[in-house]
Amino acid sequence: MNYRHGFHAGNFADVLKHVVLTRILLHLATKPAPYRVIDTHAGSGRYDLSSEEALRTHEWKDGVARIEQSPLSPAAEELLAPYRAALAGIRALYGPGAYPGSPWFCRHVMRPDDRLIAAELHPPTYQKLAEAIGRDRRCKALDIDGWTALRANVPPRERRGLVLIDPPFEQKDEFTTLSAQFIAAHRKWPTGIYALWYPIKDRRAAEGLVDDITDAGISRLLRLEIEVDRPEAAGGLGATGLLVANPPWRLAAEAEILLPALTERLAQGSRPRYLCEAIRPDG
Ligand SMILES: C[S@@+](CC[C@H](N)C(=O)[O-])C[C@H]1O[C@@H](n2cnc3c(N)ncnc32)[C@H](O)[C@@H]1O
Repeated sequence: MNYRHGFHAGNFADVLKHVVLTRILLHLATKPAPYRVIDTHAGSGRYDLSSEEALRTHEWKDGVARIEQSPLSPAAEELLAPYRAALAGIRALYGPGAYPGSPWFCRHVMRPDDRLIAAELHPPTYQKLAEAIGRDRRCKALDIDGWTALRANVPPRERRGLVLIDPPFEQKDEFTTLSAQFIAAHRKWPTGIYALWYPIKDRRAAEGLVDDITDAGISRLLRLEIEVDRPEAAGGLGATGLLVANPPWRLAAEAEILLPALTERLAQGSRPRYLCEAIRPDG
């Protein structure tokens, strides 16, 4: 476990993931019944963009800092409001360099009866996570393997909610693990919302993930991707995706507003692109 999210916090991939995360939770909150979030690879919950790690890569400068340069279109801004509010909230507490991790975005949007389970296996990162969310009685930080946490917690008692799966992609077979673990969880809880994050370094891996999942008979999917056209010489990640299973019905329409606006703002080259593809049972 060498991956440290502090090097990447607030980058363009985080922006896409966290904006979509807040939208999904707001849709869950349109019904009064409580929901549960299971965050299988939670990270530390809070990041410092002035830390040595963040300053080594400066990835946030082409991510959250771009979003803050000026407002996007009014329609996109309306959808970004909860993301911006979470950012403002954490900065009010911890200063201008603070950036929220996924559990913190959840905390910001959750209602008093909603619940979060957040698993993090790396001990020092877990300690930070426990500090960031441990005093919130709605949240439980677990220092266990995220795949174990997933198997043990679906379906949740509430029978509604979101599973966020955001592994570090350190292992060669991480795409295969991701699809297998998701398919097994979906068998146990077919009606839950799932958001699977993936990096796009090789397009075939992303295609393979979607194929494995649709071959398993899972077909209510929304595939959201952003490619920022990062110059090859710069190294690092140039494209990212989120595969959402059982997406809330308005999410695709929202993504059609958000993704072009985000892609334009986050572009690093002259040919950025986005994908917003709904995969439905009727094909
Ligand atoms: C991409 S980061 C998570 C970022 C976080 N979800 C966010 O958006 O703020 C992946 C995290 O998974 C942790 N991790 C690695 N292997 C794990 C495992 N088997 N179970 C749980 N966490 C793991 C890493 O230590 C790292 O903090």
